[in-house]
Amino acid sequence: MITGASGLLGYKHAEVIAAAGGLPVLADLPAAEPEAKAEELRTAYGVQALGCATDITKGDQVKSLLATVLDRFGTVDILINNAANNPKVEGSSDAAWSRLENLPLDVWEADLAVGLTGAFLCSQVIGSEMARRNKGVILNVASDLAVIAPDQRLYRQDGVPEDLQPAKPVTYSVVKTALLGLTRYLATYWADSGVRVNAISPGGIYSGQPEDFVTRLSALIPLSRMARVDEYKGAVLFMCSDASSYMTGANVVIDGGRSCW
Ligand SMILES: NC(=O)c1ccc[n+]([C@@H]2O[C@H](COP(=O)([O-])OP(=O)(O)OC[C@H]3O[C@@H](n4cnc5c(N)ncnc54)[C@H](O)[C@@H]3O)[C@@H](O)[C@H]2O)c1
Repeated sequence: MITGASGLLGYKHAEVIAAAGGLPVLADLPAAEPEAKAEELRTAYGVQALGCATDITKGDQVKSLLATVLDRFGTVDILINNAANNPKVEGSSDAAWSRLENLPLDVWEADLAVGLTGAFLCSQVIGSEMARRNKGVILNVASDLAVIAPDQRLYRQDGVPEDLQPAKPVTYSVVKTALLGLTRYLATYWADSGVRVNAISPGGIYSGQPEDFVTRLSALIPLSRMARVDEYKGAVLFMCSDASSYMTGANVVIDGGRSCW
C-alpha cells in the first residue's frame, strides 16, 4: 500500500512492487486520480493493481482504505508512507510566504497533516492490522533534509529583497525529521509483532528544476548531480522484502553523498 502513489516517486514505488510480483495499492487524493495510475500499472506490468482515492489525513478514510484492501486481497503486507507536501520554491520569485517569519499557520498545519499525521494514521490503522497478523513492513519516505538542514542559499533569487527571498519551508525539515522518530518508535513498539519499520532518506530528484538551482545543488553533492527518479527502486525493493529481514528502526540515506560533506 503506497500513499501519494500518483506522484513522482510514489508511482516508482508502485512499479517496484509490481515488478517484484506484488499487488500494489495506490492511495492518493481523488484529484491525483489513483485509479487511472493503477490502470497504467496494470497495463504496463499485467498485475492486479488497485487505485484508492484516499485522503490520508482523515482517519475514517484510512480505515475504509484498509477495509477495501482486505476485501480485495485478504491481507496487507507492506505500507509505504510516501505522501507529503513538497512545495517547489526553487525558481520562484514570489515565495515570500515560504520564509519562517511569514509562513502561514494553515500551511504549517496542512504540511504536518499530510506528511506526519497521515503517516501516523496509516501506521496506526494499517500497521496495527499487520501486527495482528504478526507480519508486515512499513517504509517511511523521509529526505536528506531529515538529517541535514536545508541550505537556503540554493533557493535565492537575484534581484529579490532579502526579506522576500524564497526559503525551503520549516515544515519540510520538521516533518521529515519527525518521520525518523516515528520510524524508531514503531520499530521498537512492534519489534515483537513481526512488523519491521524503516525509513529511506532520498536526496533531490531531478525533475526539470531551474538550471541555476540544479548547478548550485549539484555543487553540494559529492556525486555532482541530482538523483534520477528510478535510483531509489533498488533500496525500496530491499527494504520492503525479506532481503532486509534483520533491519528495523534504520534510516537509509541515499543522497549522492550530500550529507557526508
Ligand atoms: N522529489 C524529491 O526530490 C524528493 C526528495 C526527497 C524526498 N522526497 C519525498 O518523497 C515523497 C514523494 O515525493 P514526490 O516528489 O513524489 O512528491 P509529489 O508531490 O510528486 O507526490 C506527492 C503525492 O502525495 C499526494 N498527497 C498529498 N496530500 C495527500 C493526502 N492528504 N492524502 C493522500 N495523498 C496525498 C499528492 O497528491 C501527490 O500525488 C515525499 O515524501 C517527498 O518529501 C522527494
